[in-house]
Amino acid sequence: MASTSPEPVAAAETDGSILIRRLEIADRERGFLSLLAQLSSCPDLTASEFAACFADLAALGDDHVILVAEDLSAAPDRRILSTGCLFVERKFLRGGGKVGHVEDVVVDAAARGRGLGLRVVRRLVKIAKEAGCYKVILDCTPELRAYYAKCGFVEKGVQMAVYF
Ligand SMILES: CC(C)(COP(=O)(O)OP(=O)(O)OC[C@H]1O[C@@H](n2cnc3c(N)ncnc32)[C@H](O)[C@@H]1OP(=O)(O)O)[C@@H](O)C(=O)NCCC(=O)NCCS
Repeated sequence: MASTSPEPVAAAETDGSILIRRLEIADRERGFLSLLAQLSSCPDLTASEFAACFADLAALGDDHVILVAEDLSAAPDRRILSTGCLFVERKFLRGGGKVGHVEDVVVDAAARGRGLGLRVVRRLVKIAKEAGCYKVILDCTPELRAYYAKCGFVEKGVQMAVYF
């Protein structure tokens, strides 16, 4: 299994130095987990634990898209510089409508401020639109309002949570 779902949903795109594509199982070796650890708690997973998680998510097909931005200039290292996720939720509301949830957006600290975060989030939003979502939502801290506004989001509602 090479990616979380078949192309052409989230077909790979490149500007020559950065390749944005879907997560591959080999990205465990390319710094994917240590990148996520810059966002939140992300203990290392063994290769088999990673593979099991990858398979569970792959089973969701195009309803769960993890994009990564790969640094082509670092070849043959193939480091992952950024990631973001789209989960597509099916509803009874809106005639069986779909809502896109953007999650787990992070850019490596050394690569921030170069437009990578913007590119990944805009790409996720485009995929959600093409999947038929009537809206895309996300949670963020107040400090990130300006960043997500640049990505095309407007402030709406209040976030609530129960943590376990
Ligand atoms: C937030 C984050 C993803 C932004 O990624 P990035 O690649 O540095 O952002 P970009 O370079 O694409 O910035 C796009 C625009 O947003 C602005 N921006 C980026 N981060 C910002 C911030 N923290 N506050 C205000 N504006 C910000 C940039 O100035 C840029 O504006 P411009 O186009 O007018 O120059 C990155 O800083 C990060 O990974 N932070 C830690 C993890 C995190 O907080 N993730 C979000 C979870 S909700």
